[in-house]
Amino acid sequence: MAPRRAAVIFRKMHLNLKSLRKDMKKFIINGCGGRKKLKGEYVVSGSKNSGLPAIAMTLLFKEPVTLKNIPEIEDVFRISEIVEKMGAEIDRKKNTFIINTKSLDNSKIDRELGETIRSSIILTGPVLARTGKVEFYFPGGCSIGKRPIDLFLTSFEKMGAKVGGRGDKIIIRSKDKNLRGAELILPVQSVTATETLMMAAVLAKGKTVIKNAAMEPEIEYLANYLKMVGAEIEGAGSPTITIKGRNGKLLEKNIPPYVNMADRIEAGSIAILAALNASDLLIRHFVKDHLEIFLDIFDRIGVKYTFPRKNVLRIKSQNVKKFKAVNIKTHEHPGFPTDLQSQMGVLLTQADGESRIFETIFESRLSYLNGLAQMGARIEMWNIHQAAIFGPRQLTGTRLLAPDLRAGFAYIIAGVTARGQTIIDNSYVIRRGYENILQKLQEIGVDIEEKYEAFF
Ligand code: EPZ
Repeated sequence: MAPRRAAVIFRKMHLNLKSLRKDMKKFIINGCGGRKKLKGEYVVSGSKNSGLPAIAMTLLFKEPVTLKNIPEIEDVFRISEIVEKMGAEIDRKKNTFIINTKSLDNSKIDRELGETIRSSIILTGPVLARTGKVEFYFPGGCSIGKRPIDLFLTSFEKMGAKVGGRGDKIIIRSKDKNLRGAELILPVQSVTATETLMMAAVLAKGKTVIKNAAMEPEIEYLANYLKMVGAEIEGAGSPTITIKGRNGKLLEKNIPPYVNMADRIEAGSIAILAALNASDLLIRHFVKDHLEIFLDIFDRIGVKYTFPRKNVLRIKSQNVKKFKAVNIKTHEHPGFPTDLQSQMGVLLTQADGESRIFETIFESRLSYLNGLAQMGARIEMWNIHQAAIFGPRQLTGTRLLAPDLRAGFAYIIAGVTARGQTIIDNSYVIRRGYENILQKLQEIGVDIEEKYEAFF
């Protein structure tokens, strides 16, 4: 066999073995079975979905940038490894990352790492804008949908770049030294496309206007920091963002640390866990303004909660039998967040009546309902975007495979709520987005452990 062919086969075997080892870890949960056991205080970590673009953002700077409250989760480690492979130096002490890109010496996004996380796509904007080139492979990620990248590629072309490639490698080069500002219309609101293009525009020549921009809090948070250090950005958090480019001049003046926002999806996930299983739980760093629609749905279901202090949510023992069925339609911010849809689906299995879920953003984000049905929930799947949940139904523990990050956490909520034992295979996929989750859940009274399962 030709050496090259053998090398390709070996690489694939190595990758499969590596991913299999990750997949061999599982969570084992003994459910509360209706007893309200969870109590104490849960501290929400820094946000995954603002921490990832923050790491990409450091490529816009000449000087080292200090990032604080960055969660120590798998996706953050992977994107950091990609940036280090490009030549950046990262000094990490727990949740503080000091990233120095002075010694950046290539524009290649590592294939194996890039295919592990969808968010590697966020790096393309800053790398292309800074170096005039970026090489990458189609990004990987969850199983929640196709996750195309057409919005990125067509927008880079409008900014004066040439998109090419060989095989499944994508190579983008800006024709001039710098990207040029352009009017970018996004036919679909995309969070990472908005973030990536906004960052690319900061170094471009001239003005960029992004129309139909996504409005998630993470975007405004990123823009506010960039403005603080000299970037000229208006309208972040609205559908139209205007950026006055710096014509290739990196950001450098008096750079204060970036302090990452709290993870609103983790906060919502724990609030749902608490609504079903807490006797008295405090959730710190629950930012009300980031979860207004979510709390409105809590109100409609009949979940009782208080805010004893700013950004501290308190949930005491609920009369779950009084929870009412509601209809959920996921929508770009400020609508109901798709990242909390599967967790809310678990709560609705306990609500009285027929609840309807309409997942409008991703085409494979209802698959977790099959797992809930295995546990005893009564589900009607209408199509890949719509389903009905009839409650209340007692859930019974079973063995499940976490299909993606948020569905994996939904299975944790279901396992804690259920009678008996639940095993969730592929716990790695949950660790991608929830920092130190095993210990944090154990500390509030969840009976959960993580184990290897050696098949061989
Ligand atoms: C971000 O993903 C989040 N990830 C996702 O969170 C979140 O579910 C999603 O936004 C929606 O809120 C990060 O921020 C790292 P999209 P993103 O591009 O930006 C279509 C989690 O669990 N689209 O907003 O990749 C796409 O098909 C993760 O934390 C195109 O058509 O999602 C989808 O229908 C999961 N062409 C829609 O946009 C493109 O080029 C929204 O996707 C790009 C996207």
